[in-house]
Amino acid sequence: MKITYYGHACFLIETQGKKLLFDPFISGNPLAKEVMINQIEADYIFLTHGHQDHVLDAEEIAKNTGATLISNFEIVSWYQNKGVEGHPMNHGGKYPFEFGTVKYVSAIHSSVLPDGTYGGNPGGFVVWNEEICVYLAGDTALTYDMKLIPELCPPLTLAVLPIGDNFTMGMEEAALAADYIACNTIVGCHFDTFPPIAIDRQKVKAYFSERNINLILPEIKEQLTF
Ligand code: NI
Ligand code: MN
Repeated sequence: MKITYYGHACFLIETQGKKLLFDPFISGNPLAKEVMINQIEADYIFLTHGHQDHVLDAEEIAKNTGATLISNFEIVSWYQNKGVEGHPMNHGGKYPFEFGTVKYVSAIHSSVLPDGTYGGNPGGFVVWNEEICVYLAGDTALTYDMKLIPELCPPLTLAVLPIGDNFTMGMEEAALAADYIACNTIVGCHFDTFPPIAIDRQKVKAYFSERNINLILPEIKEQLTF
């Protein structure tokens, strides 16, 4: 599996010959100005919730690539009205796609689409196949529901957790989340994009290493292989 960071909460996962893009917010992110959205290839686009900093480039990339959207019922319906194909899910449900199984799991946050349309309840995704099992938490607080993930899904290869605090978990909660989900390899996201979520990388890395958790804070465009 290859995973590429496109800034904020946007990742591209390549597995089983398919390209899975999560929460594309690129053209509005000055830190990601080196990323060209018309060069991104995607077979599926996952949206955790309706906020602008997660969906901004979804329509354009979906129309460029013909990718299928995967999100909750409200968000997929909103995009279907714009001519983007999608597969609606909701909390607690899982579905076997061609690249693996996707489970839509709880997140504690809010969700509204850019034009004010109700965005349903926000969520996270667990994606697994023979090669990997990855949890992308989306924007969320720490929640006891995370303890259900190791009970209901295969052992995690890695988890992508927000660590920037203010709008989501900060480092303390993310380190506890690693314990709740029984995963020792964490990729941090949702930091540095806006002033309230600026982090001190050294401090955050030290906090995780003191707890024996492997924290990766990727650089934009950095590609990791697992
Ligand atoms: Ni949000
Ligand atoms: Mn966000």
